[in-house]
Amino acid sequence: MQRIAASTQTKFLLDESQLPRRWYNIRPDMPTAPQPVLHPGTRLPIGPDDLAPLFPMALIGQEVSEEPEIAIPEEVLEIYSLWRPTPLYRARRLEHAIGTHSAIFYKYEGVSPPGSHKPNTAVAQAYYNKQEGRTRLATETGAGQWGSALAFACKLIGLECKVYMVKISYEQKPNRRSMIQAWGAEIVPSPSEETQAGRAILAEDPDTPGSLGIAISEAVEDAAGRGDTAYSLGSVLNHVLLHQTVIGQEALAQMDLAGAFPDVVIGCVGGGSNFAGLAFPFLREKIAGRDIDVLACEPAACPTLTRGPFAYDFGDTSELTPLVAMHTLGHDFVPAPIHAGGLRYHGVAPLISQLVRDGLIRAEAYLQNDVFASALLFAGSEGILPAPEAAHAIHGAVRVAQAADEAGVERTILFNLSGHGHFDMAAYDNYLEGKLEDVALDEDEIGPALHAIEGLPTPA
Ligand SMILES: Cc1ncc(COP(=O)(O)O)c(C=O)c1O
Repeated sequence: MQRIAASTQTKFLLDESQLPRRWYNIRPDMPTAPQPVLHPGTRLPIGPDDLAPLFPMALIGQEVSEEPEIAIPEEVLEIYSLWRPTPLYRARRLEHAIGTHSAIFYKYEGVSPPGSHKPNTAVAQAYYNKQEGRTRLATETGAGQWGSALAFACKLIGLECKVYMVKISYEQKPNRRSMIQAWGAEIVPSPSEETQAGRAILAEDPDTPGSLGIAISEAVEDAAGRGDTAYSLGSVLNHVLLHQTVIGQEALAQMDLAGAFPDVVIGCVGGGSNFAGLAFPFLREKIAGRDIDVLACEPAACPTLTRGPFAYDFGDTSELTPLVAMHTLGHDFVPAPIHAGGLRYHGVAPLISQLVRDGLIRAEAYLQNDVFASALLFAGSEGILPAPEAAHAIHGAVRVAQAADEAGVERTILFNLSGHGHFDMAAYDNYLEGKLEDVALDEDEIGPALHAIEGLPTPA
């Protein structure tokens, strides 16, 4: 355990010249290599040509790269500099509110123009697609953070953008929708009548709240059907996690400025990108022998890492994507409409799933009323109103601090505050009015959901 410098500093800031110039690729450092990605039809390992209709070659290359680091293009760095490096805070007021003896730090990604970590990869993806001649991107969005990040990136880089937004979020978050439109993108609620996948699901269940798995099917179908369009995913894939590692690299330098090193690193997990962004550079240290507890926080309504098996599954509901080995609840699982829309995904990134399997990362699942209580504790002490997704990481940090106090130890805790909640006020209204339902997935719902993966290949 490290002692923190006896300073009273609150913010640890890096100069623009200290923006990381390379992304960190965890693949060559992993104790177990990730399982091969399989073709949805042949079930044999896929090659670059299979992915070419959906992604530019540069991103396909990053998906399988074994290079330890990958240079960030100048144009991407220039756009990053609009908000990066992001601040790292010592949460003294939160520590005081909890009454803990531990030190809590957080990295704040909500300072980006769309309000979350998502543009770290959106800008890179838009850049490589433009370089390779695509003029339009299609994507899905849950809470709207990813859709707005991609709309922002496409606007700045000069691409058209089409967003399929999960219906429940489309209804709950009209301002996210407006923001996406303000950056010039086209947006429809998903499932929509515009794709075969959407029409099939609406025919079966016209009142479905939608899910990320369904919205991904629509966006993939859109991109596969048009030569000018590529598909863009905001999480899960190796290249997305790679682009997010600017977060952890900055945080390492900022913890150094604070004269501290974390005993515990915490992030919320939907598909896993913000968690990986913070945690991977610290996992490099852990794999090299440093003692760090790395904790992934997920909703009890969608407990993929804590209760889903490690298995081959599709990334989307309509079985259009390749098969990847990951923790999953089954690709046609529709999670309850909790307010952390960005955490309602049936799978978790293969890289993270493998690291959980190897015991380098552990996971916990929380109920949404507990999460909102921690969100308000944080807002009432540190001032920032967190996104409901990010509030899972806050709740994790509060629990770790409380457990340390009970055990009579002091820990240095670092978590990722992946976004602000300024467009999530309806969720806060519901919480304050006592209307939030606590949803934990029932054991007897998991079995039927997992029927969807029966007969699929088994990971080695
Ligand atoms: C603020 C915020 N945090 C976290 C997430 C979860 O995604 P991921 O696990 O890829 O970071 C989202 C997704 O929409 C989000 O908007």
